[in-house]
Amino acid sequence: MRYRAALNSRRSRPAIMPEHAMTTLAPIESQKLEPTTALSVETVEDVRHWNEHLFSFSITRPPSFRFRSGEFVMIGLPGPTGKPLLRAYSIASPAYDEKLDFLSIKVEDGPLTSRLQKIVAGDQIYLGKKPTGTLVADALLPGKRLFMLSTGTGLAPFLSVARDPDIYDLFDAIVVVHSVRRVSDLAFQDELEARLADDPLVGDEAAAKFHYVPTVTREPFRNSRRIDALIEDGSLFAGLPGEARFSPDTDRIMMCGSMAMIKDFADRFDAMGFIEGSNSQPGQYVIERAFVG
Ligand SMILES: Cc1cc2nc3c(=O)[nH]c(=O)nc-3n(C[C@H](O)[C@H](O)[C@H](O)COP(=O)(O)OP(=O)(O)OC[C@H]3O[C@@H](n4cnc5c(N)ncnc54)[C@H](O)[C@@H]3O)c2cc1C
Ligand SMILES: NC(=O)c1ccc[n+]([C@@H]2O[C@H](COP(=O)([O-])OP(=O)(O)OC[C@H]3O[C@@H](n4cnc5c(N)ncnc54)[C@H](OP(=O)(O)O)[C@@H]3O)[C@@H](O)[C@H]2O)c1
Repeated sequence: MRYRAALNSRRSRPAIMPEHAMTTLAPIESQKLEPTTALSVETVEDVRHWNEHLFSFSITRPPSFRFRSGEFVMIGLPGPTGKPLLRAYSIASPAYDEKLDFLSIKVEDGPLTSRLQKIVAGDQIYLGKKPTGTLVADALLPGKRLFMLSTGTGLAPFLSVARDPDIYDLFDAIVVVHSVRRVSDLAFQDELEARLADDPLVGDEAAAKFHYVPTVTREPFRNSRRIDALIEDGSLFAGLPGEARFSPDTDRIMMCGSMAMIKDFADRFDAMGFIEGSNSQPGQYVIERAFVG
């Protein structure tokens, strides 16, 4: 009941998109999509453009679609031959939400995103029926602090996990770390800086437990070094309960970003005695690449 009431109040909230961040794009060729055994057809509800490389959007959620916060799913559009052209996408909204949010890169000549970036409200999109993934609470052992380390669009699954009320029952501190090249790559910065205060599902718990650590590595910003440097000088832990270092006894870590980032951090945590977790064998850290390549 609590969630239902919260969802209703969420729906009536005004859009938080600042005028200056909006970009008007021509509608994609209007096509009527047909569902398949593996794919449903959903409707785009809104689109938010952050810069020339990044946008986010919401689509309708079929009543039968179940997922765990942090999972990814295939989405897509008809390809050049008419066959669905699909790519993996992390769901950026929590499992309790009525709609599904996504955060997307715009790859200039990318087969999918060169077209996906042109979607507008009312357009149709394919949604896979089998969400999956390892960035889920189930793959982690109990702990006190949850750190979600992300680069670029690797933020997406953590927007889901951090807005899921269940995670606040499991941990004393929920920390989202987001490293990007430019300030405008800090998608949802205002909402995260405000500690999700307007979020009807987690606003109260987040005020006490949620922490946001953004860093911008190629433009001036208050944090301007990579995540590993913030770990080494202790600044990543500023304002958090507990010690200014990671411990496998108390800390659980989720990581999502480029292959290089994930490999570097997995090596670092292995060396510190952390054990990687999976759905079948929960551990102290979990990883997922934000893209292939
Ligand atoms: C498990 C998983 C989850 C993913 N979740 C997301 C997500 O939530 N949001 C998202 O935008 N993408 C995500 N991706 C990447 C996504 O599947 C596509 O690669 C992306 O949408 C680009 O598709 P494309 O067809 O335009 O180009 P592709 O042919 O797929 O990619 C072309 C090149 O663009 C670069 N690239 C692709 N995706 C990204 C990215 N996200 N960030 C930086 N560079 C990239 C790579 O160098 C890649 O080789 C995910 C990938 C995986 C494997
Ligand atoms: N974002 C943009 O403005 C932009 C512009 C042009 C093209 N692109 C395209 O988009 C692709 C992805 O760009 P992106 O900005 O999303 O991702 P990215 O290049 O992976 O950078 C995102 C953040 O991760 C940091 N990082 C990269 N590797 C790391 C590692 N091994 N350990 C710790 N931190 C690491 C980067 O720091 P550093 O800055 O120190 O590398 C940056 O802060 C690029 O390959 C490029 O083709 C992006």
